[in-house]
Amino acid sequence: MNHSTINEALNWRYATKKFDTSKKISALDWKVLQNALTMAPSSYGLQPFKFFVVENPEVREKLKASSWNQGQVTDASHYVVFAAKEKLDEEFIQKYINRIAEVRGVSQESLDGFKSSMVEALIKGPCAKTIDSWAQRQAYISMGFLMETAALLNIDACPMEGFDPQSYDKILNLEGTGWKTVSTVALGYRHPDDAYQNLKKVRFSDETLIEYVK
Ligand SMILES: Cc1cc2nc3c(=O)[nH]c(=O)nc-3n(C[C@H](O)[C@H](O)[C@H](O)COP(=O)(O)O)c2cc1C
Repeated sequence: MNHSTINEALNWRYATKKFDTSKKISALDWKVLQNALTMAPSSYGLQPFKFFVVENPEVREKLKASSWNQGQVTDASHYVVFAAKEKLDEEFIQKYINRIAEVRGVSQESLDGFKSSMVEALIKGPCAKTIDSWAQRQAYISMGFLMETAALLNIDACPMEGFDPQSYDKILNLEGTGWKTVSTVALGYRHPDDAYQNLKKVRFSDETLIEYVK
């Protein structure tokens, strides 16, 4: 992939307000997008997040009503809800340790040090108090990966925070599960009538946003 392909995709993408309901993301493209979600990095690699791909049209209608009636919720081909762990416990960390041992074929004992460092920092340390916002930050990284990958595939997306998270938790039966809705991304194909696609991008200048520390 060359530089101009990447730059074109970054300029081409925009937060799509109106999706073409007749166009669906192919299974092949969806596989790549799913890979972008799961391959996103996270602190310690702990992945304190979960992605709900809402396919049920009735559930989407309910979510739309809790999203200021934003049409993207029902009109997009795919609708992903990002949830993060509200609290971390040793059980969750152990689950991750088990997974490392399984995937890399190493012993549990060889991971003891790594496990204690996570327990100390994330459960016993001062970070425990703000672990919910820490987990949310991890979820946002996967959101970024998803949107960039979509743009490279010429698939439109709209990142969304304009909804009531408590209602989402209720509708998606997340209450009491330890997962909390954080954000969403609607994905599909822009409607030709969506005026937003023609607007110039507003960004502060590079000089304002980027400072080289020499
Ligand atoms: C975390 C986040 C939440 C957002 N929430 C909404 C939303 O609820 N509805 C919407 O139409 N756009 C939403 N946006 C889109 C932003 O308004 C948009 O990305 C920004 O104005 C820059 O425009 P561009 O993405 O088209 O370049 C959100 C963007 C982000 C990153």
